[in-house]
Amino acid sequence: MSETPVYPPSPEFVSKANVQGLEAYRELYRRAGERPEEFWGELAEKELFWFQKWSHVFEWNPPFAKWFVGGKTNVCYNCVDRHLSTPRKNKAAIIWEGEPGDQRVITYQELHRLVSRFSSVLKSRGYQAGDRAIIYMPMIPEAAIAMLACARLGITHSVVFGGFSAEALKARILDLGAVIVITADGGWRRGKEVKLKSVVDEALPECPSVRDVIVCRRTGSETGMAAGRDHWWHELDENASEDCPAEPLDSEHPLYVLYTSGTTGQPKGILHTTGGYLLQATMTVKWVFDLHEEDTFWCTADIGWVTGHSYIVYGPLSAGATTLMYEGAPDTPAFDRWWRIVEKYRVNIFYTSPTAIRALLRQGEKWPAAHDLSSLRLLGSVGEPINPAAWEWYYRVIGKEKCPIVDTWWQTETGAIMIAPMPGAVALKPGSGTLPLPGVDADVVDFAGNPVGADQEGFLVIRRPWPAMLRTIWGDGQRYKDQYWNRLPGLYFTGDAARRDADGYIWVLGRVDDVMNVSGHRLSTMEVESALVRHPAVAEAAVVGKPDEITGQAICAFVTLKSGNADHATLAKELRQWVAHEIGGFARPQEIRFSDALPKTRSGKIMRRLLREIVTTHSVSGDVTTLEDMGVVTRLAAQHDEE
Ligand code: WT7
Repeated sequence: MSETPVYPPSPEFVSKANVQGLEAYRELYRRAGERPEEFWGELAEKELFWFQKWSHVFEWNPPFAKWFVGGKTNVCYNCVDRHLSTPRKNKAAIIWEGEPGDQRVITYQELHRLVSRFSSVLKSRGYQAGDRAIIYMPMIPEAAIAMLACARLGITHSVVFGGFSAEALKARILDLGAVIVITADGGWRRGKEVKLKSVVDEALPECPSVRDVIVCRRTGSETGMAAGRDHWWHELDENASEDCPAEPLDSEHPLYVLYTSGTTGQPKGILHTTGGYLLQATMTVKWVFDLHEEDTFWCTADIGWVTGHSYIVYGPLSAGATTLMYEGAPDTPAFDRWWRIVEKYRVNIFYTSPTAIRALLRQGEKWPAAHDLSSLRLLGSVGEPINPAAWEWYYRVIGKEKCPIVDTWWQTETGAIMIAPMPGAVALKPGSGTLPLPGVDADVVDFAGNPVGADQEGFLVIRRPWPAMLRTIWGDGQRYKDQYWNRLPGLYFTGDAARRDADGYIWVLGRVDDVMNVSGHRLSTMEVESALVRHPAVAEAAVVGKPDEITGQAICAFVTLKSGNADHATLAKELRQWVAHEIGGFARPQEIRFSDALPKTRSGKIMRRLLREIVTTHSVSGDVTTLEDMGVVTRLAAQHDEE
């Protein structure tokens, strides 16, 4: 590892940074570690508005944490109202561009008006703190407005990514017991309409808890409206009051539930609450993205993922930033769309995924070269480890060798960035998230929970609760305990493998469980398998992630059929479509391989390790002594050569 290049921050960057120099970082880290309650308490007081101060900072009944106990605050108030008495009143809060090229600039004052009106609509229909809402929307300002309006009233929201199917949407509505769905007719993606309302219509007949559907008009396409149930956003808005104060809510009030894949077929509803979540989302924007008042901040994620929650909406707005939101695809109408946007709005901080970087890299340098990217001063990466070639391209071609790249490791569960460089303090090593942030007690341990030595691989764990951590799995406290805290007793189990080098830098290596990472999106192998075996022709299915140059991993499914005589090509097509229908288009397997049997241990457990090896190396080298029928493996490995 000695030849790993190291990129210290330039003196120029350090001189203007929010945290200047390694010693400043170390001091913050030391204080947070030695006196966490004092550290977080002081920040909460300074950085957030509270209707009522907490009685104590922290309460820990392992593994259940409470932060700022007894405190009353409101996330929406912090993201919007409190800026109105400052020079930010007329600052752009949201700059939005639609895929067709339409644009909107919404100031903090205007955002306050829009959010208050929509809150009034919700309130007048009887919704209140404790109710649950589903938000199923395209990337338009109303998505953020809906989230903020829910937060204003204490309605717990769950944003469902617009790529999820009716089946997946239904499962989330039911698990959450949602009483209202906020959606749109559709959104634009690659020049085509992605219909959303029709998907809601397909999901709702089996969701008796839902009383109202509010539909925002985006594409203007024909949409059936069920009398009594469906309402146009703009019609309800007509008479809405602009006076709808933010509710003082308990610091532990449930802000949102976001579903993510676990190791079973059933997604987990990750619960985030109010005060602690907002504090860490806000602080990481300042620490990691080094936010300055004049910055335009662009996170390219979809609000359907946690990255969109924390770094398009809650973190940047709470910090008083200008956050940019783009509706569509990076290649529409051409591969320079993102660079066009950077140039047009003079974006300063740009945050995206390695998958996107690799896809754009492949199109060549001419696309970014055609645009003035000189406004950029900081780049970010999230979702998976970034490979050296993608890092180097991002650094050189996009950042012109003057922008630090913050590689940010975190998870839906952590709520906020956990391991990442403070760019004016910590030298970069391409591919490493570098050092844990203040208050994050990260470690790399063995099966017994003991720290491993420098450069040894182990499990990435967090030793101590942090403010933005998930509070539980919605409706399933036992699964929360088992999944995260009982594997290595007393430690938070991330599910990732990592190693720490002699400088203390953490290198995340990938998942150790049956979770795939496809384009930075988490998907469990079991979830795709369960979808496949629901198809009438399928007897058994085993799914593995296969290395992919662009998406990191691609989904490869091994399938055995109930009756052997099917047309494989047609069925493969049908099964890929089936998975898209059951989960969503992004879960469509890249490859389906048919087999007369799957490799199993003598006790009947599918040996995914062998399948992973087959798709990676096209052969099997490891120990196969527990395998029941070696012939299966040979036949599966041989299949590749036939293709
Ligand atoms: C998993 C979490 C948090 C937003 C995006 C994904 C992987 C995430 C990095 C990174 C290496 C990373 C991990 C993690 N991951 N960021 N910078 N370097 N791996 O959220 O869907 O909850 O997935 O993504 O495996 O556990 P998520």
